[in-house]
Amino acid sequence: MLNQRLEKELNKQLNKELFSAYLYMSMGAYFQSVDLLGFANWMNIQVQEELAHAQKFYDFINGRNGRVVLEAIEKPQTDWDSALTAFQDALKHEQFITGSINDLVTISTEEKDYATQIFLQWFVTEQVEEESSVTEVTNKLKLMKDAPGGMFMLDRELGLRQLTAPSAN
Ligand code: FEO
Repeated sequence: MLNQRLEKELNKQLNKELFSAYLYMSMGAYFQSVDLLGFANWMNIQVQEELAHAQKFYDFINGRNGRVVLEAIEKPQTDWDSALTAFQDALKHEQFITGSINDLVTISTEEKDYATQIFLQWFVTEQVEEESSVTEVTNKLKLMKDAPGGMFMLDRELGLRQLTAPSAN
């Protein structure tokens, strides 16, 4: 059984994962509006991943006889100046989520809840991947400096991204 402090913190993280999906959906809509359909595809896959992350928290809280309590999801930003600023914001957001997961690990240690600690290990590893994939695109965008040829190539590359099933926890 989860203690109240952890139940509350895990519910907060569930909300953050849902907000992540909402943010990337908003970035996808932005890319769609400027006809960068490959970038929009990349964001759409990211939305699916974030929903899978949220589902993991939902299932874990229920599996530990906790109570899932859904809160309002904050309105995400809707416009960006460029693909680069959108990806820079995505990177900042992933760094924020990494910090949040790390804080949860600290809390689960303080509460001596080792099942939660083990559950969170998947997310610790996943955040390395999350930051790395966003950084890779951000760095390419910085190198290209919005050169049309480069944008065309990168848009095509990002259009190839497919959803990969998350590994079991
Ligand atoms: Fe659920 Fe992108 O972290």
